[in-house]
Amino acid sequence: MATRTRTRATRRGPRAPRPRQASARKRIWLFEEGNASMRDLLGGKGAGLAEMSRVGLPVPPGFTITTAVCNEYNARGRTFPPGLMDEVRRALGVVERRMGKRFGDPRNPLLVSVRSGAKFSMPGMMDTVLNLGLNEETLRGLGALTGDERFAQDAHRRFVQMFGKIVLDVPGEKFEELLAARKRRAGATLDTDLGAGDLREIAREFKALITREKGVEFPTDPWVQLEMAIRAVFDSWMGKRAVDYRNFNKIPHDLGTAVNVQAMVFGNMGAESATGVAFTRNPATGEKRLYGEYLPNAQGEDVVAGIRTPHPIAEMERELPGVYRQFQAVASMLERHYKDMQDLEFTVERGKLWMLQTRAGKRTAQAAVKAAWSRSRSISSCSPDSIRKTRGPPSARASS
Ligand SMILES: Nc1ncnc2c1ncn2[C@@H]1O[C@H](COP(=O)(O)OP(=O)(O)OP(=O)(O)O)[C@@H](O)[C@H]1O
Ligand SMILES: [Mg+2]
Repeated sequence: MATRTRTRATRRGPRAPRPRQASARKRIWLFEEGNASMRDLLGGKGAGLAEMSRVGLPVPPGFTITTAVCNEYNARGRTFPPGLMDEVRRALGVVERRMGKRFGDPRNPLLVSVRSGAKFSMPGMMDTVLNLGLNEETLRGLGALTGDERFAQDAHRRFVQMFGKIVLDVPGEKFEELLAARKRRAGATLDTDLGAGDLREIAREFKALITREKGVEFPTDPWVQLEMAIRAVFDSWMGKRAVDYRNFNKIPHDLGTAVNVQAMVFGNMGAESATGVAFTRNPATGEKRLYGEYLPNAQGEDVVAGIRTPHPIAEMERELPGVYRQFQAVASMLERHYKDMQDLEFTVERGKLWMLQTRAGKRTAQAAVKAAWSRSRSISSCSPDSIRKTRGPPSARASS
């Protein structure tokens, strides 16, 4: 079976991609400079973030380093093109001004996420680091600024864990084991039962684990953290997991991945905060009603990590009615805009809605027909191919 799906690239080994001349010029695009048609250069996630920013939706500011840079990086033997980090500093300067915070500033620190995003979705293949920019000083600043020491310690614990796993390649289970042991000792059932002191200790244990495993100290300079995370995303493009996935799915190896650097927003800042994922309509039936789940007081990955059981999105209507209505309006608008059902990621920080991702959602043929009719559009928006292919239960993700 593997032979049937293997491409020429596997038989010869993946070739280092060649940089594309025309697109290689502008390496970094602020979200508001791009648009939906730029998936080749900005990746699916970057193009979605750009489009949502362009039409005025609430998207945390950020920028995309293009897929062409990834290809150039690989063609140069895993070396950044000269001057890339200067351009990153300039782009991050714009984000700092928009957010009124500074990267690495102990009094008022900006934190960012570093998110991979190729033209086509590669679920589970490439990763995202949240809360980047934390060290002992910015951690104190974050605690003082938010008046919530536990929140700051939790953000730091998560950052050390994600960075350790994704960027420094320490096996994820080793962090989970330490976390579980600490929970046992503290008599805690859920992560949320752990106090600030426990979380501080866990982060310390995580750093010691990283040093034991890799023989390096955890990087404290936010700029070094950022450079390492960008590099890790580029490296993951030619990693075995990603190469195998592309061979299997016949995705070309020379597309490259973009890197999105985006100001963090926090769904874990108390009862008025939340994070979730939702389709703009029911993917099985096509019924025009938000379909998804969310978690109050949680950060992005909690919804998919299975640590806590998410609530159906409909409950948000009772818990956060104003935000729910706004999210409904955004979802309808995006569906009309893209003329297709969308799969959305969002976060609510202290009552404010932030959009973090939009992409075409997969649905059944029945739903495609219903959606096409209910939008009063021609039936041509669901292709015969999609009707043939989409039988059985809906699966979550299409292209990112
Ligand atoms: N700047 C940010 N602020 C808050 N949450 C974020 C931010 N960036 C990413 N997240 C959240 O972190 C999680 C992981 O992000 P991301 O979308 O990059 O990867 P993914 O959803 O795991 O995979 P995929 O690439 O398929 O989307 C998501 O829940 C996302 O909404
Ligand atoms: Mg996502």
